[in-house]
Amino acid sequence: MPLAKNEYLSDSWKDGIFDNKVVFCTGGAGTICSAQVRALVHLGANACIVGRNPEKTENVAKDIATARRGAKVLGVGSVDVRNMQSVQAAVNKCVGELGGIDFLIAGAAGNFLAPINQLSPNAFKSVIDIDVLGSYNTLKATLPALVASAQKHKSDGKKACPDGTGGRIIFVSATIHYTTTPLQVHVSVAKAGIDALSATTALELGPRGITSNVIAPGPIGGTEGMDRLSRKEDLEKAMKGVPLGRYGTVKDIADATVYLFGDAGNFVNGSVLVVDGAAWRTGAVN
Ligand code: HXC
Repeated sequence: MPLAKNEYLSDSWKDGIFDNKVVFCTGGAGTICSAQVRALVHLGANACIVGRNPEKTENVAKDIATARRGAKVLGVGSVDVRNMQSVQAAVNKCVGELGGIDFLIAGAAGNFLAPINQLSPNAFKSVIDIDVLGSYNTLKATLPALVASAQKHKSDGKKACPDGTGGRIIFVSATIHYTTTPLQVHVSVAKAGIDALSATTALELGPRGITSNVIAPGPIGGTEGMDRLSRKEDLEKAMKGVPLGRYGTVKDIADATVYLFGDAGNFVNGSVLVVDGAAWRTGAVN
């Protein structure tokens, strides 16, 4: 069932702020990324979401398109971000059918719980490859379109800070590597790598008008990651120790996305926006 608007976006944002923008999103059929894209589409953007499962990806794309009359949302399945050709083909389709890419959300991730001594080298590599290599491949494949978008939005071709928005990147990371988390060495190393990828991108590509930031979600209710990675009773106990005393929602992450891609985020570059109610600072939820 489609989400009611107040489940994925605050009333603070104005309709049309992302008119004529295009967002490309990996992991776009997942709970968090689909809410991020849905919010952008609601506010005017068109979108291309990619994923490994064709049926799920196409269905989620159709569902997101209901957020706004006339929205174009492509769902491109069978895309494995570990394979550059696979990502490049999806990017080409997005640029061909939607006219370019203004915003990138690199959200594809893999995860499971495993102790170090039971984790095979291939299991470790699988998550590093999906998260780090996959994010890099996605950045590399979308970069020409992002640079073109950023240039279009610079007022005089010289300013480092673009007027209007385009050429914006969000990498979706996590907080588990801040405090160290048992059973997730593979994911912790991967997320630290994503933070470094984003920071370097911000530094190298800022002069070309690109901004690159990380959103690090905390425990977000109703997500596949939370359902699979944590026992409900453990989480409910742990949540009592969190400063804001609740799970995050997909709306919290969608709002952060709108902020970073909108004019309000023009001068934010190379940052990690932690959206977790200060959970990681307590060490209560990990
Ligand atoms: C130990 C495991 C395992 C498990 C897989 N492997 N699952 N090892 N425990 N539970 C091992 C396999 O045995 C194999 O090693 C290697 O990993 C690759 O497995 P494959 O199934 O062949 O790989 P693949 O099909 O590429 O699957 C990738 C995956 C998968 C990561 C293993 O689980 C996946 O894609 N999951 C869905 C995506 C997902 O989890 N999304 C939510 C992300 S949430 P061997 O040695 O046998 O060959 C998120 C939030 C982070 O990121 C923050 C959390 C708080």
